[in-house]
Amino acid sequence: MIFVDACFKKNTPYTPIWLMRQAGRYLSEYKATRAKAGSFLDLCKNVALATEVTLQPIEILDVDAAILFSDILVIPLEMGLPLEFIAGEGPKFTQTIQHQSDIQNLQKNAYKKLDYVYDTLSSVRSKLAPDKALIGFCGSPWTLATYMIEGEGSKTYIKSKQMLYQESDVLHTLLARITHELKGYLEEQIRAGANAVMIFDSWASALERSAYFEYSWKYIKDIAHEIKQKYPSIPIIVFPKGIAGYLDRIDGTFDVFGVDWSTPIDLAKKILGQKYVLQGNLEPARLYNRELMEQGIDEIFAVMGKQAGFIFNLGHGMIPNLPRENAIELVRMVREKSMRIG
Ligand code: CP3
Repeated sequence: MIFVDACFKKNTPYTPIWLMRQAGRYLSEYKATRAKAGSFLDLCKNVALATEVTLQPIEILDVDAAILFSDILVIPLEMGLPLEFIAGEGPKFTQTIQHQSDIQNLQKNAYKKLDYVYDTLSSVRSKLAPDKALIGFCGSPWTLATYMIEGEGSKTYIKSKQMLYQESDVLHTLLARITHELKGYLEEQIRAGANAVMIFDSWASALERSAYFEYSWKYIKDIAHEIKQKYPSIPIIVFPKGIAGYLDRIDGTFDVFGVDWSTPIDLAKKILGQKYVLQGNLEPARLYNRELMEQGIDEIFAVMGKQAGFIFNLGHGMIPNLPRENAIELVRMVREKSMRIG
């Protein structure tokens, strides 16, 4: 699998590419399947339909990897927090974590209840071409904790930060509980057929530098270390979003560092390029304009060349109204340009 080879810095015939949120509303096929399923969560829980949407970007875009169709929030959901996805507003938990006692009430070993995820992975793997990789994923403990504390996405993270600065032991207890679940969760995903796993730390940039390493990175490293020890042949990708200023303190046993669009790729290469494979980082909004998209691809290749061990991706997820033709063209261009550089 060219994607897995690139994760381990092996030479590949071209630069592999996949796109964060490659299955989603910019595809009419996704919208049709989602309508058949009912709600977004019904789609996540329906093995046949979740398999279908996981495979759509492989057929439509010809990317080198499929990513499990699910959501990072199914872990807090199965830990016992009721979850709704409200159209146009995003995810909402109707019950949240405020006190130590709320943590005690959470279900233990919730990852054992996620058979719908594991069954989807096995089903996708059995249908996927042998040269295409299947990526499993989870959210980071910090990112999941912010949803569990705030109840929804936030611009300020006030409740989470109040807990951090006033009752840090409560936050650490919660982070440790989530970490336990995520270790089991990723392990089960690998057993079900995931060829690589990715940890999304979408709200990394909410934390000041010292707090980031104490409340987020430490837990990500712990998960990655455990998974690496048990499954050394499975690449681990981490994606802490928006922490360009903290790169010099990034360390630990993982394989690929996901570079977001706000982090200059030359900076990431300078600080992390010797130690880790990089994945990224085209600004997704460039897909609104074909010319600026191509310019962005060229700028990234000017820095990364056709390095052994570079994976092309967006610097964050696909936006629902991006033109699909440009996504198709992006994949084609990256493959063609990287072969030419070779
Ligand atoms: O990348 C993929 O194609 C795989 C599927 C995937 C989804 N969510 C599907 C989804 C993955 C990897 C995620 C991860 C996820 N979910 C993250 C981390 C990555 C990131 O974007 O930073 C986060 C923070 C979430 C939480 C979440 N889920 C939000 C904030 C939303 C609402 C945003 C929106 O676009 O409406 C979701 C819902 C969601 N997850 C959708 C999809 C395709 C849209 C739901 C719909 O169909 O209406």
